[in-house]
Amino acid sequence: MTINSLPKVELHLHLEGGAPPAFIKGLAKEKKLDISGIFNEDGSYRFTDFWNFLKVYEAACTTLQRPEDFYRLTLAVLEESAKNGVVYSETFLSPDFCGGRDVGAWREYLHAIQEAADKAQATMGITLKGIVTCIRHFGPEKARQTARCAAETAGDFIVGFGIAGDEKIGKPKDYLWSFDAAREAGLRITAHAGEWGGPESVREAIHDLGAERIGHGVRAIEDLALVDEIAEKGIVLEVCPGSNVALGIYPSFRKHPIGEFYNRDVKVTISTDDPPFFHTTMAREYDMLNRAFDWDEGVFDKIARTSLDAAFCDADTKARILKTLEQGHA
Ligand code: ADE
Ligand code: ZN
Repeated sequence: MTINSLPKVELHLHLEGGAPPAFIKGLAKEKKLDISGIFNEDGSYRFTDFWNFLKVYEAACTTLQRPEDFYRLTLAVLEESAKNGVVYSETFLSPDFCGGRDVGAWREYLHAIQEAADKAQATMGITLKGIVTCIRHFGPEKARQTARCAAETAGDFIVGFGIAGDEKIGKPKDYLWSFDAAREAGLRITAHAGEWGGPESVREAIHDLGAERIGHGVRAIEDLALVDEIAEKGIVLEVCPGSNVALGIYPSFRKHPIGEFYNRDVKVTISTDDPPFFHTTMAREYDMLNRAFDWDEGVFDKIARTSLDAAFCDADTKARILKTLEQGHA
């Protein structure tokens, strides 16, 4: 058994952020859209920093115009995840990019995404669940419309609600109405925080929004009292080390705080965020963490189980995936 052949559970992946650049380029050609400025000469995505990354991301999303595009995108993303040993994936879905937050249109996009998920389950053995996410820099009113889409479609497939985007804009509590609406519909809560904002941003996501998982959360390391609180409350960090390194938050995997969080008994999980943008995969994340911290199979197995435990899906799905983890570790 090698580390890389271990079955993996991923909790933090943006569906559009998983789009391979060649896939987006193909859609742009079909639709006669000129977005050539977002690509390097070698075909990879081109961006200079996080804020430019958000612009490039949104430009790429202009090519995703129909439910059929999301059907193809979902299959492409899951194929890559499955190739990297992922057996369960929770993916952020954005009604902003799926029919402009109209509930009727959103249902059609969601239907296409679920059809692709069913096909991937049957042909590749990977399970997908969705977390509807609002986008912070689009503002609280659009977040409310997004929350309505989430609440209307909450169920077996849509299991959570979250917030992504520019953490420097506004405050978590500006979005409380949306989080309360999602919670009332039975959705579980995660929030991006402590990526570009410091410990206070993580505290607000926990105290003001009631987040049980934090997307990234890594800057909490700057306040050890907060780290203790996160550990004591069992709040789960969806850590994306390769993303943080690619965007320059930390200079290397070795300097990344995931090792310290782990040693301080924080529930850490491992994800890719937007893998083709950051030239990463789940297999690469495992490999880089193994090299940086000398983590062995036992550590990765424990993290996969922590991840499954923190997943927002139903108990039957968890039991089924647990069997896969156990067989994969045998
Ligand atoms: N949307 C896609 N990737 C993101 C990230 N790393 N942070 C915030 N919002 C995002
Ligand atoms: Zn993210």
